[in-house]
Amino acid sequence: MTHRVYNFGAGPCTLPLSALEEAQAEFLDFAGTGMSILEISHRSAPYVEVYEAAQANMRKLLNVPDNYKIVFMQGGATMQFSMLAMNYLQGGTADYVVAGTWGKKAIAEAKKEGEPRVVFNSAEENFKSMPKQADIDFNPDAAYFHYTSNETIQGVEHRTPYDTGGVPQICDMSSDFMAYPVDVSKYAMIYAGAQKNAAPAGLTIAIISDEQLAKAPDNVHTYLDYRIHAAKDSAYNTPPVFPIYMLSKVTSWMLNEVGDLDAMYVRNKAKADTIYNAIDNSGGFYKGHAVKDNRSIMNITWTMNTPELESKFMAEATKHDLIALKGHRSVGGLRASIYNAMSPEGCNALADFMAEFQRVNG
Ligand SMILES: Cc1ncc(COP(=O)(O)O)c(C=O)c1O
Repeated sequence: MTHRVYNFGAGPCTLPLSALEEAQAEFLDFAGTGMSILEISHRSAPYVEVYEAAQANMRKLLNVPDNYKIVFMQGGATMQFSMLAMNYLQGGTADYVVAGTWGKKAIAEAKKEGEPRVVFNSAEENFKSMPKQADIDFNPDAAYFHYTSNETIQGVEHRTPYDTGGVPQICDMSSDFMAYPVDVSKYAMIYAGAQKNAAPAGLTIAIISDEQLAKAPDNVHTYLDYRIHAAKDSAYNTPPVFPIYMLSKVTSWMLNEVGDLDAMYVRNKAKADTIYNAIDNSGGFYKGHAVKDNRSIMNITWTMNTPELESKFMAEATKHDLIALKGHRSVGGLRASIYNAMSPEGCNALADFMAEFQRVNG
């Protein structure tokens, strides 16, 4: 029997076992080609089928309107920070929410392309919350409004679009992409590094409205022009074939074994509740980082009384096959990333371990 642990890593992270097994079974001879998916041309019919399946699955799961394109790129969400500003800021102004590390990084790149404005900044409280609608004073003349729906490092989340009064809304959904239903029509663009909920690392996904696509200036570099990727079915240059192949498997798992994003949300919320309950019922032994209203259902962050106790917790958790629980160095403490593919059993095992660790050490 293969030994599998519960991997709470923030990304790359755990993938659905059935998707991994399918890939393993067809690894040396994909679709009767006598070649691995890693070896075949991105212009070949078997790859095109994989690409089309991934696109169709995503359209179905996210109910993507016909006037939106889904584009697959490389460079991570990090490259999107620059690319979206190069395409859509063009020396102008845009509104940015800075509710965590990733929002901060996004605006830093935008500053190289124009005059972005911070409309919410929770740095002083060490990024524990997300803005409510009323907290934001939208600039009607902004080229766009940008926010990060889930701040992966701090574990704060805002799951609904804002009412921007008509300003195009752009969202970095890297760490809660396809974790719950989203009204895509409320966004001009959604983007995500795939390596949390969708696929292994190496793939970046953007969903962009035709109206937004048309706004790019003609002097943008070819690879950095979203219109090129959209027009060339994400094969302007050699695409990341293997992550796209895994995306088709992961999205098939979501459709066939979970059902839809409503069911995905119910499953994710229940998993998160299991761990938040362990925190809330600990009488302060575990201290949650995020304010309750903005608790992430993907990344659960908490601290304990001393760094020594936290280290002991992690060392003992590892012995129980509960791994990668160390919080990001900028926040400290612990973090359990429980993306779509983390099973309810994994979350139960962690909550049980937390209770037992507290019994012995509390
Ligand atoms: C919300 C968010 N945005 C952006 C990034 C950067 O993604 P990448 O490593 O794909 O560039 C991450 C990575 O964890 C993230 O969690």
